[in-house]
Amino acid sequence: MADNEHGKVRAGRVTPACAPGTGRKPHPLFVCYFPFLVTAQRRVLPPAALLLLVIVMHPPPTRPLSRFPTFPFSCLVSRHMNVFATGGAGYIGSVYVEEALNAGHRVTVFDNLCEGHRAAVDPRATFVEGELDDEIGLPDALKRSQAEVIVHFAAHALVGESMTNPAKYFGNNMVNGLKLLNAAVAAGVKKFVFSSTCATYGPPDQVPMTEETPQRPINPYGESKLMFEKLLRWYHQIHGLEFVAFRYFNAAGASERFGEHHRVETHLIPNVLKVALGQATHCEIYGTDYPTPDGTCIRDYIHIADLAQAHLLAMAPGRQGFYNLGNGGGYSVREVIETCAKVTGKSIKTIEKPPRPGDPPRLVAAANKAHQELGWRPRFPQLESIVRTAWNWHRTHPQGYPAEPPV
Ligand SMILES: NC(=O)c1ccc[n+]([C@@H]2O[C@H](COP(=O)([O-])OP(=O)(O)OC[C@H]3O[C@@H](n4cnc5c(N)ncnc54)[C@H](O)[C@@H]3O)[C@@H](O)[C@H]2O)c1
Repeated sequence: MADNEHGKVRAGRVTPACAPGTGRKPHPLFVCYFPFLVTAQRRVLPPAALLLLVIVMHPPPTRPLSRFPTFPFSCLVSRHMNVFATGGAGYIGSVYVEEALNAGHRVTVFDNLCEGHRAAVDPRATFVEGELDDEIGLPDALKRSQAEVIVHFAAHALVGESMTNPAKYFGNNMVNGLKLLNAAVAAGVKKFVFSSTCATYGPPDQVPMTEETPQRPINPYGESKLMFEKLLRWYHQIHGLEFVAFRYFNAAGASERFGEHHRVETHLIPNVLKVALGQATHCEIYGTDYPTPDGTCIRDYIHIADLAQAHLLAMAPGRQGFYNLGNGGGYSVREVIETCAKVTGKSIKTIEKPPRPGDPPRLVAAANKAHQELGWRPRFPQLESIVRTAWNWHRTHPQGYPAEPPV
């Protein structure tokens, strides 16, 4: 019996004593590769041959890679993940799902279609029509998806409605969100990406708003999202669930296939484009006497494809925390209307109305943290490019998505 630096050689076989240079017990995968490290002539295989061997023995996985967290060569295999996207039939979720599939991830969409559309689900995704409140159906769908990451878009998101029906907002955005968090922990999901909102800040003392801007929401929608942010902090601290919460500013734009079709539309750009399509006679401007250059409110518009890219970056292990997503600067209501007129070539009739209570003059994001820590680079920072993609979708889908097929 002779010793070598890797262990004991016995009758031509090598029994590893410990991983080289560590003095620790070897990883089982090291044990499995060890016999191949040294040839019968006790010559070390060249690294390229060893790499080839590893790739042959471990073709790109059909199962989650996270089951092999310490696999030493996992960085050499593309990191495609199993994603569970709640609300993936909705406006922002549909484009995220499309981009995630384009990037090679496997996606299960979980949506009750209360606001989303079956036709908005990319056919390459697995679709589960389900309700976050379903304490059997949700864990079951999560388990079958073998989810490594949950991307949680599902929520109610109408600020005005939340002021008349707060129970609906706390119930879905907070209580049902908590059920999802519990199911995530039970299923061993490691990562959670959450759609939060600038409404968690309320009217700011200063703009642009950073992630440190005090959070003082002024409606149940913003409050319910802030409550869920707090749940995430605790679940991270207690269960080690890694999370990224994105505070979106005003989501806008479309991809070629998927766009904005809310049953009750409150967002400015699609409402202005309805006038261009001849589906509405005019659009309303709430307040023309704000302390802004043209007297109308300024908002920060962010393309949904750019939101989707940020979510893909956030999925990487180690990414954690709260991030604003916006373009900074912002555009006034009048600038949006003028841009829509330019892009569509139609004149847009407007009617001026008094300001709405609680509408701050300027809501603009500082998104430096997402740029620096996630390497996020928006591809559509200009309003005109955002409006062009929106117009392209609305003019090719003037009625939005087709009605859901009868059940
Ligand atoms: N659109 C924006 O400008 C904006 C801004 C800030 C934050 N957000 C947040 O982004 C997310 C997505 O927004 P959106 O504009 O795409 O909304 P959306 O209404 O188009 O999408 C939400 C989806 O969630 C689904 N859903 C809701 N409750 C559910 C439940 N209990 N079970 C299963 N599915 C459920 C709906 O059917 C819908 O498909 C929301 O969480 C919203 O609060 C949106």
